[in-house]
Amino acid sequence: MDQKKATLTLPDGKIIELPFIEGKMGKPAIDISQLSQHGLHTYDPGFMSTASCGSAITFIDGEKSILLYRGYPIEQLAEHCDFLDVAYLLLNGELPNQNEKTKYVSEVKKHYLLHDQLNSVFRGFRRDAHPMAVMAAVVASKSAFYFDEMNVYNRNHRKISANRLIGKVPSIAAWSYLYNLGRPFNYPRNDLSYAANFLNMLFSSPTQDYEINPVLVRAFERILILHADHEQNASTSTVRLVGSSGANPFACISSGIASLWGPAHGGANEATLKMLQEIRSESRIGEYIERAKDSTDSFRLMGFGHRVYRNKDPRAEIMRKTCHEVLSELGLENDSIFKLALKLEKIALEDDYFVKKKLYPNVDFYSGIVMRALGIPNSMFTAVFALARTAGWIAHWNEMFVADNLKIGRPRQIYKGKLLRNVSLDRNVSKD
Ligand code: ACO
Repeated sequence: MDQKKATLTLPDGKIIELPFIEGKMGKPAIDISQLSQHGLHTYDPGFMSTASCGSAITFIDGEKSILLYRGYPIEQLAEHCDFLDVAYLLLNGELPNQNEKTKYVSEVKKHYLLHDQLNSVFRGFRRDAHPMAVMAAVVASKSAFYFDEMNVYNRNHRKISANRLIGKVPSIAAWSYLYNLGRPFNYPRNDLSYAANFLNMLFSSPTQDYEINPVLVRAFERILILHADHEQNASTSTVRLVGSSGANPFACISSGIASLWGPAHGGANEATLKMLQEIRSESRIGEYIERAKDSTDSFRLMGFGHRVYRNKDPRAEIMRKTCHEVLSELGLENDSIFKLALKLEKIALEDDYFVKKKLYPNVDFYSGIVMRALGIPNSMFTAVFALARTAGWIAHWNEMFVADNLKIGRPRQIYKGKLLRNVSLDRNVSKD
């Protein structure tokens, strides 16, 4: 059967045939990679219509609200797996069997401890520095610890880097917060699960043990699983772009953290809670809805909308359920922020503006409320997201080297600057 092709007719009548490229699921794409041979390139700000790579890691159908990691529905993974199962799956393509899991957990835990010299890196920051700023810098600084023996084109070196990153990022995230509070750095504990170890580092102190509550640990585990990957979002694309030059993996992950920090991406959970705290009372919801609809006001309803989900975000439903579980475990069913969130969601979902634009709550609408109930402060929300997404970033970074057509990422541009001109010998001449 002939391969399906699109034809492009240029103004001079020349016709270029462009093949369709089919994935295993989802819509086919037009392969424009050969256009440069014709001296042409395409324009697509925000990559609204552009697939940047082929990937076997995550599949999203935004119309049908489907999210699969390596073929498994997010709902099943959130129900039956822990975070290290999911990290292993993202990286290796299969869920681990019992032996593989035991080996993987022990490999990751081997890397829990941070180099003692990192203490000095942390202490170089102002006390009030945002944990994301500290995290991005400290993760990047790790590239100075692991560079000479690191060859990104070597599969085994990439595997060690992946384990190091998954192992060390929880300690870096927890220490970024403890430094901010002026509390002593807690060491990781190998006897705890990945999620419990992080919560313990965050909340225990030399004078007071942290009481580990399995319901809360499970909720936190779910936050990690739901945020572990989401195909070619801004931060993952950043990691791939930086990684495509052969850069050190710690530097690549640090670039992902920087990208994630923005309020339009990972910063949305922090921004959502701030927004709910600012709205304060149900009587003021209408005012904020009107502001979100006003095209002259830059305000947006945080935790609403998504580039890919034009229907419900499947993660939001799981987070909503988790929210109920956590609040009931803690006896906070009447939490005013949660009630406000439910009311705001209801009003927005019945409003024509949100219905027509297909704007639904995304995962971050509820994850902030869960984290607040767990005692995690606002400033750490995005750091938790970064901790989870490290698994996805490292899986994509690794996949990029396995792909057979790895090229350095280098988009083109439409030049909009000055035409060719000469440097004037008299700079006092007026510049019109
Ligand atoms: N509140 C009000 N209006 C909105 C919102 C919102 N949250 N989101 C989108 N819109 C409107 C836009 O104003 C635009 O209207 P227009 O067509 O009249 O200009 C239309 O819906 C389409 O929005 P775009 O910004 O073009 O959509 P895009 O796909 O580029 O943006 C994004 C998606 C960034 C997530 C956006 O919906 C947003 O800013 N949401 C709030 C921030 C947020 O919750 N981010 C978390 C994303 S999920 C994650 O990172 C885990």
